[in-house]
Amino acid sequence: MRIDIITVLPELLKSPFEASILKRAIEKGLVEVHLHNLRDFALGNYNQVDDYQFGGGAGMVLMIEPIDKCISELMKHRDYDEVIYMTPDGTTLNQGMSNHLSLKKNIIILCGHYKGVDQRVRDKFITKEISIGDYVLSGGELAAAVLCDSIIRLLPGVLNDETSALTDTFQDNLLAPPVYTRPSEYKGMKVPEVLLSGNFPKIEQWREEEALKRTEERRPDLLK
Ligand code: ADE
Repeated sequence: MRIDIITVLPELLKSPFEASILKRAIEKGLVEVHLHNLRDFALGNYNQVDDYQFGGGAGMVLMIEPIDKCISELMKHRDYDEVIYMTPDGTTLNQGMSNHLSLKKNIIILCGHYKGVDQRVRDKFITKEISIGDYVLSGGELAAAVLCDSIIRLLPGVLNDETSALTDTFQDNLLAPPVYTRPSEYKGMKVPEVLLSGNFPKIEQWREEEALKRTEERRPDLLK
């Protein structure tokens, strides 16, 4: 998979890909992540990428021309399955969307900033608009990092058995059951007996029941 991220703040997006699982996925060649600084496609001597909005009002808007140049350049070299715009008024991200996107070959992610992008960018280039939740971030960069993490960990070969995504919360629309590790007793607090029993069908049954219980208590909406 290849992910191209267009941003005015590439430095904000470096470190998420330089540690742990995402770093290893890149090193193993399972994913390529390319950051593109929108200013490299800027206009005039002032490296302009944004301007005041027509009709007045506070806040700058990212201009269409640098974004058009950047996306057109990328599209010269390969076909893209999706051009995603990170925005608080997009569809709220969920596990199903990440599963779906993890099957794509090439995607572009455009990070909004300030008041967002010229609507014509959204009309002409964008195939999906994604929000990571009902709150407003300073820009789309951290949201893009969240989206990339949720996709990349699903790519075959990225996680090993111990970290398998199959038992994650939200797979099968259930929250994950409680987990415990050593010691089996700490200051009088005991690990549920069944987990120490070695009876694996029983353990599996306990986990399913606990997952259902937790989902009913915390997220009954997932069971509908
Ligand atoms: N940009 C600003 N806030 C955002 C959000 N909640 N999700 C995605 N992109 C954003």
